[in-house]
Amino acid sequence: MKTLIVYGTRYGATEKAAHMLAGRIHGEIRQINLAKGSAPSPADYDLVLVGGSVYAGSIQKEVVQFCTANRHLLLRKPLGLFVCCGEEHKAREYLQNALGADLVARALALGSFGYEFDYSKMNILFRLIVRVISKTGKSEFNLREEAIRDFAAQLPKS
Ligand SMILES: Cc1cc2nc3c(=O)[nH]c(=O)nc-3n(C[C@H](O)[C@H](O)[C@H](O)COP(=O)(O)O)c2cc1C
Repeated sequence: MKTLIVYGTRYGATEKAAHMLAGRIHGEIRQINLAKGSAPSPADYDLVLVGGSVYAGSIQKEVVQFCTANRHLLLRKPLGLFVCCGEEHKAREYLQNALGADLVARALALGSFGYEFDYSKMNILFRLIVRVISKTGKSEFNLREEAIRDFAAQLPKS
């Protein structure tokens, strides 16, 4: 089975999550950071997994563009959607707002994989914002391995 994993990330949490997810899937896997590489057509894959992270309520525009450009194919493909975000219970809402309710309804698996706040990577503005959001003032590394495992378990194996 051929699987395509495409994702958007700003500071690497979603990339880490995508790699962890790839480790739980069998067969041939291609991973694409949409900000760095142009994505192949989903038509060439048996399973497509699309992820991004949330900033001020929005998922990366390259993720939205990928889904818009491939909308008709994705509506017919085995599909999984995931996000990394601080407000983990809002994952479905974020995905629906960004990608459309029809795509979300069509997905075999929806994942909320946790989040990271890495102060060493953020600019000063983002540090200030996160200090308000998180209240701890410290970097936090909270990717949820069990959420990634549960997501992978809902995907077709062959
Ligand atoms: C400036 C800023 C704004 C954020 N806004 C939101 C938000 O609106 N909702 C949310 O759930 N998480 C929010 N987050 C949390 C990020 O989605 C989280 O840190 C995520 O792990 C980032 O993943 P990435 O490194 O792959 O970009 C925000 C983080 C930052 C730094």
